Amino acid sequence: MATRRILVTSALPYANGSIHLGHLVEYIQTDIWVRFQKMHGHEVHYVCADDTHGTAIMLRAEKEGITPEALITRVLEEHKRDFAGFRVEFDNYYTTHSEETRALSSEFYRRLKAAGLIDVKPVEQFYDPVKEMFLPDRFIKGECPKCGAKDQYGDSCEVCGSTYSPTDLKNPYSVVSGAKPIRKTSDHYFFRLSDSRCKTFLQQWTQENDHLQPEARNKIREWFDQGLNDWDISRDAPYFGFEIPDAPGKYFYVWLDAPIGYFGSFKNLADRTGVDFDRFVKDGSDTELIHFIGKDILYFHALFWPAMLKFSAHRTPSHVYAHGFLTVNGEKMSKSRGTFITAESYLAQGLNPEWLRYYYAAKLGQSMEDIDMNLDDFVARVNSDLIGKYVNIASRAAGFVTKYFAGKLAPVDPVSKSTFEATAIAYGSEHLIRSAYDQREYSKAIREIMRVADAINQRWDKAKPWALAKDSTQLKAFHEICSDCLDAFRILTYYLAPVLPETAARAADLLGIPQPFLWANLRTPIVQVKEYQHLMTRVDAKQIKALVDANRETLQPAPARAAAQSATPKQEKTVAAAAEPQPISIEDFAKIDLRIVRIVNAEHVEGADKLLKLTLDVGSLGTRQVFAGIKSAYDPDTLKGRLTVMVANLAPRKMKFGMSEGMVLAASGDAPGLYLLSPDSDAEPGMKVK
Ligand code: MSP
Ligand code: ZN
Repeated sequence: MATRRILVTSALPYANGSIHLGHLVEYIQTDIWVRFQKMHGHEVHYVCADDTHGTAIMLRAEKEGITPEALITRVLEEHKRDFAGFRVEFDNYYTTHSEETRALSSEFYRRLKAAGLIDVKPVEQFYDPVKEMFLPDRFIKGECPKCGAKDQYGDSCEVCGSTYSPTDLKNPYSVVSGAKPIRKTSDHYFFRLSDSRCKTFLQQWTQENDHLQPEARNKIREWFDQGLNDWDISRDAPYFGFEIPDAPGKYFYVWLDAPIGYFGSFKNLADRTGVDFDRFVKDGSDTELIHFIGKDILYFHALFWPAMLKFSAHRTPSHVYAHGFLTVNGEKMSKSRGTFITAESYLAQGLNPEWLRYYYAAKLGQSMEDIDMNLDDFVARVNSDLIGKYVNIASRAAGFVTKYFAGKLAPVDPVSKSTFEATAIAYGSEHLIRSAYDQREYSKAIREIMRVADAINQRWDKAKPWALAKDSTQLKAFHEICSDCLDAFRILTYYLAPVLPETAARAADLLGIPQPFLWANLRTPIVQVKEYQHLMTRVDAKQIKALVDANRETLQPAPARAAAQSATPKQEKTVAAAAEPQPISIEDFAKIDLRIVRIVNAEHVEGADKLLKLTLDVGSLGTRQVFAGIKSAYDPDTLKGRLTVMVANLAPRKMKFGMSEGMVLAASGDAPGLYLLSPDSDAEPGMKVK
């Protein structure tokens, strides 16, 4: 078999969020495929990186009071830790904020420009006059132009589903400062996707040679029918990213350098290991380039990216494989239901990462359909398949072989070879399982593996080795059934190795399977086994419940707090009763920086039943975000624009939903009811209250 040379990627996760079970669908899917190919001795380079640029990351760092560089450095370590925890084994995990990616981005740009595919055009966009920055669609909210729903994002309405441009919004406001955005024009750089060369190339590339799945091809035909627009690849300062070489103050839009980051990561690897970088990425390459992505980023990978590659003297992808989205218990992952589960929390609860790898494998196929993780099914499936069927074989057979035969296996008798039925069945499925893995039909592979495991267990039960063990005339038959089942277990271990690397490695140690697993060694039987050590424990449904509880976002009662941040009237009372007011000095009182604020925005917080998220204009102190426990008393819309009073020097508090940077003051008594304070109407935001 010829050696394949393959550069494989998974999408680069954003450096401003934690890895969650949704992400893991993709990284586990890719990792299984890569491990499978490596078992065949193919040369595979699996690279990935954090996607570190853009407005969201810039603002997130600002909110945390750190530099974007510090933020992305911290998140990179977290992401690496999470992936390692799930045994996702990249050959390189890097960052797009690297010299390699910067140099490559410049080179792509230079070549596209030389090809006449870069245009400069003025663009009118919303601009935040307070924050002095252009606002991406996601940072503008307002009323939907179609249905009038309030607080809708600048690109689409979550109520009626319509999409539009942010300039269509009614009563728009900046999510960053709460200010009313103004329209401002500036020059933007465009990649001329509408150029006939791009169109001709893409029409051909997307429809031929299985570059894309059939569903993806259809989707793209729809996009073609709507017409390809030029792609805006620049953003104005302030922006965290790479400055465009010949355009000071203009930065590459994050989605331009992100896919180039695949090559940046590979370059970093190649420079360290001596792999021939150019051979994998330049035009005329004789290697494969395969991207695993989620269906939400198909447009970027199936249109922009191939065109960028084509017209910059690079090779184009061999395949782009898109997967669907993860749902949990049939619904979108949700913080309030506790089903928005982070990788970190899964591991922290002591759950075995290979349970999840197995469950996903059992669900994944070639299609772009969403996959559902039903938590009850997860428990049942892992226990019945992995423990009840697979591990069960080894735990039964290995014990007998060590106890009765000093760990030695019976050799296959050339005459009565046929008695090694379990082994024969296991070998019989090799072809089907291999091609299923290669085609990314993991669910098919798993189904077949479990069918074989069932068959092995049936042979075992039928032969009744426990009875044979007591009959000295049956010693040979006893030895043979144990050996047959154990060797069949070894074959199953090869089949499961891409999915369960750690369990398979432990089994390999038990059975003396040469490491690393190579498909070429599949037909080398075991000679000797070690004393059986347990391979995997069962999942306990209680562990899953604890996991969901740990991820459910609820309001954490804070220690000493005033009415506006407290959870329930009942708790307020206990706080009040416990703390009898003590006299304080005027100096003590002066420590509290009370300010007049204008509520520029108030909104519900998904998953929080007591909180409203307030954006406060504090005059010269800028804007603050505060979570206030006043949802029971106020409709957010009625709060917008009104004045109130805040404690401006309260230490910021990190809440589940974000940072709370202060506290608004409200009154409450024994009866239900909360009353925000209001100054007389001529007070101005930022004024001191003293
Ligand atoms: N940064 C971009 C990708 C740039 S690639 C040059 C991005 N990042 S992401 O963090 O939002 O997503 C990373 C990958 O995880 C994407 O392929 C995305 O589809 C996938 N998933 C994120 N949430 C997911 C689910 N809930 N379910 C399945 N996959 C999901 O997009
Ligand atoms: Zn609407």
